[in-house]
Amino acid sequence: MTILVTGGAGYIGSHFVRHLERKKIDFVIADNFSTGHKKLVKNKKFVELDLRDPKEISVNLQDLDITSIVHFAGLSIVSDSQKMKKEYYENNVLASMNLAKFALEKKIRKFIYSSSAAVYGIPEDIPIKENHPTRPINNYGKNKLEVENLLKDLSMEFPLDVVCLRYFNAAGADDNGDLGEEHNPETHLIPNVINSALNSSEFTVNGDTYKTNDGTCIRDYVHVNDLASAHLLSLNFLDFNKGFHIFNLGSEKGFSVMEVINECQKLMKTEIKVRIGEKREGDPDILIADNTKSVSKLNWKLEKNTLRTIISSAIDYHKNAL
Ligand SMILES: NC(=O)c1ccc[n+]([C@@H]2O[C@H](COP(=O)([O-])OP(=O)(O)OC[C@H]3O[C@@H](n4cnc5c(N)ncnc54)[C@H](O)[C@@H]3O)[C@@H](O)[C@H]2O)c1
Repeated sequence: MTILVTGGAGYIGSHFVRHLERKKIDFVIADNFSTGHKKLVKNKKFVELDLRDPKEISVNLQDLDITSIVHFAGLSIVSDSQKMKKEYYENNVLASMNLAKFALEKKIRKFIYSSSAAVYGIPEDIPIKENHPTRPINNYGKNKLEVENLLKDLSMEFPLDVVCLRYFNAAGADDNGDLGEEHNPETHLIPNVINSALNSSEFTVNGDTYKTNDGTCIRDYVHVNDLASAHLLSLNFLDFNKGFHIFNLGSEKGFSVMEVINECQKLMKTEIKVRIGEKREGDPDILIADNTKSVSKLNWKLEKNTLRTIISSAIDYHKNAL
């Protein structure tokens, strides 16, 4: 039994791989290292391939005994998705289609897909349940929804069972301190605030006129190790639940940008120079998940569910990486 982990050289995928190693479950990573890191696959079973090319998929994977697929691979910078629509469509939608086709050809039944809260667009209700309307407002969110819909169609026509996991804001790092968030460029709040503190550089907050208590955006941060565990639970869930399923992965707690900065300052015992910049177009005021369905149906347990735990794990990683 081997789990194919696409994007296993990336941030969330590498934490899932670590989770599998701890559970002694066999896997193979497939990655093109476009945003992932070669050092993260060192001494691990991996194949270098680009999911945009169906031939590369079949040539490299056809002889492996793959029993399920966990598909993290993709590009995920929202502003780039607006500027590079075609590249995002090819890399996120067409590549996923190629992978799903391979799953059908090889009769691999279980497919877990990394979706995103971006499919909801500007929420009407908070916390957001899975049955909230999906009206994505950028190409990244549209692509995620297109893949969800494709997988739903396939699961109705063919023997394919699918879980789409809609992540809120993945954050934090593994306890070992050797695995963490390392996007380039980094667009996520927590690593950028930590880097500002470590480099004594100014941190720019994108607007303070949102409809929240302190005017800065509120987001739901979920520890990357808790995200990782939900993927294995999803594979187990598909043993007894066929068809197509969607789950939110969030903590149900919201923190504003200023609250995150304040917590970093406290934990790092330093003052961060903050500048208020322009509001970003299309940023919802508040995004908070309702995770009732994942907790009850997947038996998901959030073990690192405080802002302090999330941020301190990220600080440890960034200090180690210096
Ligand atoms: N980080 C978050 O907060 C967040 C939130 C919601 C959804 N997601 C989704 O989760 C997934 C993982 O996110 P991440 O933060 O780990 O991103 P990441 O950029 O760190 O990892 C993505 C990995 O996919 C690989 N990849 C990209 N295109 C590929 C292709 N065509 N063929 C083979 N490999 C390819 C990259 O090299 C990289 O290793 C993505 O699909 C992302 O959209 C992330």
